[in-house]
Amino acid sequence: MNVHIFSSNEELNEAAAGLLAATLHTKANAVLGLATGSTPVGVYEKLVELYKKGSVSFKSAKTFNLDEYVGLPRDHSESYYTFMNTRLFQHIDLPAENAHIPNGNAEIVQEECVRYDQMIEQAGGIDIQILGIGHNGHIGFNEPGPTLQSATHLVDLHEETRKANARFFDSIDDVPVQAITVGLGTIMKSKTILLLAKGSDKAEIMHRALRGPIDPQCPASFLQLHPQLIVMTDSEAGRLL
Ligand code: GLP
Repeated sequence: MNVHIFSSNEELNEAAAGLLAATLHTKANAVLGLATGSTPVGVYEKLVELYKKGSVSFKSAKTFNLDEYVGLPRDHSESYYTFMNTRLFQHIDLPAENAHIPNGNAEIVQEECVRYDQMIEQAGGIDIQILGIGHNGHIGFNEPGPTLQSATHLVDLHEETRKANARFFDSIDDVPVQAITVGLGTIMKSKTILLLAKGSDKAEIMHRALRGPIDPQCPASFLQLHPQLIVMTDSEAGRLL
């Protein structure tokens, strides 16, 4: 694994966006695995800047997001669909049909999960997957537990995760109780994984994930097994690495 600890957020965002842009330069039809949460927001801002300067194009790229809440209307301000549109998609030249997010309102969720994995496979797999990390070690919405699932699946969100995400909603009661997430197997098949973490509240979980034992109680710990894992943190989140 390659660990980069940056002294400022600005540098981290630039480096992460630069890596994504480099992937697109090498392979114009690259498949990007995208994440939500507050961590990648600055990276998406940098990517938009690069696009506006004419330094990168997404017109032949495909994107697959990691997860989506179940039962939240697609146009809800906190749906990951809205998040991705407002933060990234509406500012760049990515064709709408090339941007994929699990459908959290699918009539038959199980079918949606199978369809999503098939689409990723048909696209040739993910070239570079961006990941944030939850305080409990979740990646995407793969929550800690005695076992982990490989494929895209329906998940019951842990109370801790709902509490952490309640800051984006009016109250915790408004935070959905379920989500669709790609599984650990799908994530681990990505050719490169870029794990991002910011802030001192992520220091302990980053240490546990990257220096602790590989354990389904900390899903991110499985990333230690990935042959092309790049970690980018600020000095606070990387303090214990
Ligand atoms: C959410 C997302 C994850 C994200 C995590 C951390 O629940 N499903 O993909 O990595 O929480 O979020 P943040 O970056 O806001 O700390």
